[in-house]
Amino acid sequence: MGYSKRIETLCSLLIKTEVFADVGCDHGYCSEYMLKNGLCEKAILSDISKGSLAKAEELLAEYIQDGRAVSVLGDGFYGVPKDVGEVLIAGMGGSEIVSILSDKTYGFMPNRFVFQPMHDAEKLRRYILENGGEIERDFTFADGKFYDVICGKKAKGGGQVRDYSEAEYEFGRENLEKMPTDFVKRTKKHLVNIDKYLKNSNLQQESRETLEKRKRRLQGVLSGEVK
Ligand SMILES: C[S@@+](CC[C@H](N)C(=O)[O-])C[C@H]1O[C@@H](n2cnc3c(N)ncnc32)[C@H](O)[C@@H]1O
Repeated sequence: MGYSKRIETLCSLLIKTEVFADVGCDHGYCSEYMLKNGLCEKAILSDISKGSLAKAEELLAEYIQDGRAVSVLGDGFYGVPKDVGEVLIAGMGGSEIVSILSDKTYGFMPNRFVFQPMHDAEKLRRYILENGGEIERDFTFADGKFYDVICGKKAKGGGQVRDYSEAEYEFGRENLEKMPTDFVKRTKKHLVNIDKYLKNSNLQQESRETLEKRKRRLQGVLSGEVK
């Protein structure tokens, strides 16, 4: 079966590892990709929902049978060892991902990670950089909707120097430096939406000022002034 562009983008960022954990795996496509292509010796399929996990268990039944995949029903990193080689958490909110990483009992900064937050990417970037993580790739891509993907690793020595600007936290350093096409498209789309709201003559003054401020910021992003 051909994967969606979103799943293919996630897979393209995964690298060879011994043990791979797909947290919130649902269908388990990315684990299938890892196992089929010999990119991991073992995959941990985990999900908080029994129904979601059942989909991955069905897709990967043969791998489970021969011991190359194990399924875990649980919240976040429950059942995922701290020394796991690589972790994927995709399709959840950034705040939810932060809750998983920071959980007092099971949380940790993975050796390598690919995160695809559905929103709150800024919160996730801050958490990663303030808690011993290093960001390697961080860009916006489109597959019907716009998505952000953030991947990286646990920083050697315990923490990356916090040298991100406020704009880099908000938009992602790679987006600001390289201006990928889909990031530019998303920013232009936001600007079109802001202009639509601004045409409303009943708009309260405070809301108008907020929108105009946002418009200037996004225009600054596109012109390269906001760094
Ligand atoms: C939208 S699906 C995304 C599935 C897949 N990762 C993808 O990107 O296509 C989100 C999945 O995360 C699971 N989930 C949500 N919160 C979770 C948590 N705290 N721990 C584990 N799984 C969770 C849901 O049950 C659901 O199966």
